[in-house]
Amino acid sequence: MHYDNYMKECIELALQGAGNVSPNPLAGCVVLDKYGDKISTGYHEKYGGNHAERNALLDCNAKDGTLIVNLEPCSHHGKTPPCTDLIIEKGIQRVVIGMRDPNPLVNGVQKLTDAGIEVIEGVLEDECRKLNEVFIKNKTQGKTFAAIKTASTLDGKIATACGSSKWITSEKARAEVKNIRKRYDAIMTTSATILADNPAMEHKTKIILDRRLKTDLNARIYKQGKIYVFHEAVPPPSAAENIEFIKISGLELVFGKLYELGIMSVLIEAGGRFNGEALSYTDKIYHFIAPKVTGDNSAKSCFDYRKITDINESLNFKIDKAEFFGPDLLMTIRRG
Ligand SMILES: NC(=O)c1ccc[n+]([C@@H]2O[C@H](COP(=O)([O-])OP(=O)(O)OC[C@H]3O[C@@H](n4cnc5c(N)ncnc54)[C@H](OP(=O)(O)O)[C@@H]3O)[C@@H](O)[C@H]2O)c1
Repeated sequence: MHYDNYMKECIELALQGAGNVSPNPLAGCVVLDKYGDKISTGYHEKYGGNHAERNALLDCNAKDGTLIVNLEPCSHHGKTPPCTDLIIEKGIQRVVIGMRDPNPLVNGVQKLTDAGIEVIEGVLEDECRKLNEVFIKNKTQGKTFAAIKTASTLDGKIATACGSSKWITSEKARAEVKNIRKRYDAIMTTSATILADNPAMEHKTKIILDRRLKTDLNARIYKQGKIYVFHEAVPPPSAAENIEFIKISGLELVFGKLYELGIMSVLIEAGGRFNGEALSYTDKIYHFIAPKVTGDNSAKSCFDYRKITDINESLNFKIDKAEFFGPDLLMTIRRG
């Protein structure tokens, strides 16, 4: 039997938990009865809640059935009891997984195999790894997953020389930006972007890089959400309760601090100067392109942080996905 379609369904189910399960991984599960017919599904809905396998198995008779899940079932006590125990208890005879759990505490495959359950591994593994790219980076590197969102014209411009940038992309593209934001623990922007655009950027957690504290605390961005303002050697003014000042310098420390704060993923929404500096800390880029040309070389570029003489010094990336939102193209890009 091929399990690819069921694994795709697991991935779709898992995505329903996006934005609510951090720092846990995204997980979706499908259960088949002993005849191979689907009898139940479940996903990890929120942090601290049941894992996908438990939600799928709760109310079904799965004796001699098959359980399909994108991530190796847990075998240790966390906020909930081990899923492997429930799988064994329910009499499942085969477990199909997309990928092993990078958390060294998890030894689910071994535990299931020891209990006489057949385990099939690596079904749609690449897709499953992409689904949990944040969790994998967190667990294997102990670092925050960082992505850049940028929106440019065909000639790579994000604003005119004097900073006019509203709006480069269509309403549909901007609605997608809001969807992308929800999947991240925090968003990050800069003093220069706040001074130019006065954006609201609604989100539960925002990081503002403002080394000399130039932004006005009455700006729209400060009105909502938990806000961390990262600054350097400037005494902070008194501010509303949702605003916390953190004195820190250098991007290495800034990104390290995010992980310390429990921020497992961050979406950077800034201009070219910061985007360029942040590239070496970035795992992924969401690049929206509007079919427009400024034709103005003095307009601001998406990545503008250095001078090179040889084109081979360019950084290489690979395009993972291309989708249209209204007239605009969204390329999802990873490091090459
Ligand atoms: N189309 C889009 O996707 C998009 C998105 C956002 C913004 N924009 C446009 O981009 C323009 C602003 O772009 P920009 O390039 O001038 O500014 P930027 O890249 O947004 O911000 C640069 C500022 O970030 C702060 N910063 C803090 N740490 C830094 C570091 N390690 N390296 C570099 N900068 C650091 C610095 O300000 P301090 O010294 O004050 O800390 C620096 O001046 C605006 O016109 C805005 O409209 C477009």
